[in-house]
Amino acid sequence: MLTNSLGRSDRLNRVHPVSQWAGKSEAGPLIFDRAEGLWMTDIHGKTYLDAFAGLWCVNVGYGQKSVVAAAQAQMEKLPYATGYFDFASEAAIRMAEKVAELTPGDLNHVYFSLGGSDAVDSALRFIDYYWTARGQPERKHILSLEKGYHGSSSTGAGVTGLAPFHAGFSVPTAHQHHIPAPGAYRSEDPSDAAVIAASVQALKDRVHALGADRVAAFFAEPVQGSGGVIVQPHGWLKAMREACDELGILFVVDEVITGFGRTGKMFAQEHEGVQADIMTMAKGMTSGYAPMGACVLSDKVFEGIAATGGTVGHGYTYSGHPVSAAVGLEVIRLYQEGGILANAQARAPAFMAALKRLEAHPLVGEVRGLGLLAAVEIVADKRRKTPFAADSGISQKLFSALLENGLIARCFNDGTIGLAPALTISPDQIDLIAERIETSLNTLSL
Ligand SMILES: Cc1ncc(COP(=O)(O)O)c(C=O)c1O
Repeated sequence: MLTNSLGRSDRLNRVHPVSQWAGKSEAGPLIFDRAEGLWMTDIHGKTYLDAFAGLWCVNVGYGQKSVVAAAQAQMEKLPYATGYFDFASEAAIRMAEKVAELTPGDLNHVYFSLGGSDAVDSALRFIDYYWTARGQPERKHILSLEKGYHGSSSTGAGVTGLAPFHAGFSVPTAHQHHIPAPGAYRSEDPSDAAVIAASVQALKDRVHALGADRVAAFFAEPVQGSGGVIVQPHGWLKAMREACDELGILFVVDEVITGFGRTGKMFAQEHEGVQADIMTMAKGMTSGYAPMGACVLSDKVFEGIAATGGTVGHGYTYSGHPVSAAVGLEVIRLYQEGGILANAQARAPAFMAALKRLEAHPLVGEVRGLGLLAAVEIVADKRRKTPFAADSGISQKLFSALLENGLIARCFNDGTIGLAPALTISPDQIDLIAERIETSLNTLSL
């Protein structure tokens, strides 16, 4: 039974992202009405603690009035200005300047997208253009990690290493390849050195098998978010950077989730003193208050493309939208001067400690994380580390149990719980997240 007319209308007219189009639940979706801080309220008045910042994006929390004021002021003054040709707005220029200042090294050239998928798609187009400009158009192969997520654009979905984004869509293409994800939990030798060495070797083997002069780039997330929050050992990113240099291919770091304080640094590359050739970002850039992402190019890549002297035929009407840029500038001010990044750094140890205590639970196989990005992996057999089968329905059961207990988190198909609360989180809210997970696990009917 549909419980309300909004639910009925949703079923009739709304096509949801990443959803089953047939056989949708009769109950209709969970419809949110309002939110404040980390708390969300649905249209029936039930409140939930959002431990997932919307979709790993609302890093400053809900209800930040200064962000709303920045958007309103920009809308009143100049709601739109194109970035095409030689037009611009002050907000977009200031935002590009800010991003260039915050990103590591010579990542100085900011192309604005509307989110992460089109930031990745832009990166793929610029990579193609770059190698053609450099006189090496045969460099077409793109490598990435199994279980990596790089969005769902028509080509980016093939760089993504998750089967549900491939099924029915003719990707990966013949030029897109995946190497194993470097997780320690189920590795025969879980030492950092062994996990890193295996990953470097896998990259080199695959590049050599394809022919090093035919490979364009390797894409990586510093922590694999949508693949189940797979945290690579410290040193992995640096080792992959060095391997890409040795192989002569571009190194692309996708910080759509890990950027803007999520892992305890403004960008996760900073943990290892690494700089990508190309970096993608979105989500925390505007904390989800308005759509914005970016593909940021190093001097080398930008100059390689610019050297052709031609028009680079890539653009979106809303690239560098002034309202999103004004929102982004205020959100970044809150991270820095508003103390939100400092709060994320201060709270991270207690967050991880509270979750780590859940490892004593018979259903919890592993707790892992970096900063305020974490996973609690539920297993069918703890001693053997056996994951739940994808068709066991564990994800839906867990999700329902968490919601019942007033907690919003991501539940992956294998039973891993993904957590990414707003960076404004308080000590009490950390305890509440752990408590509500434990209660949900205790009441889970398997
Ligand atoms: C690492 C990464 N890249 C790209 C994307 C795609 O971003 P969007 O959903 O904004 O298109 C995501 C989204 O979760 C992501 O996590």
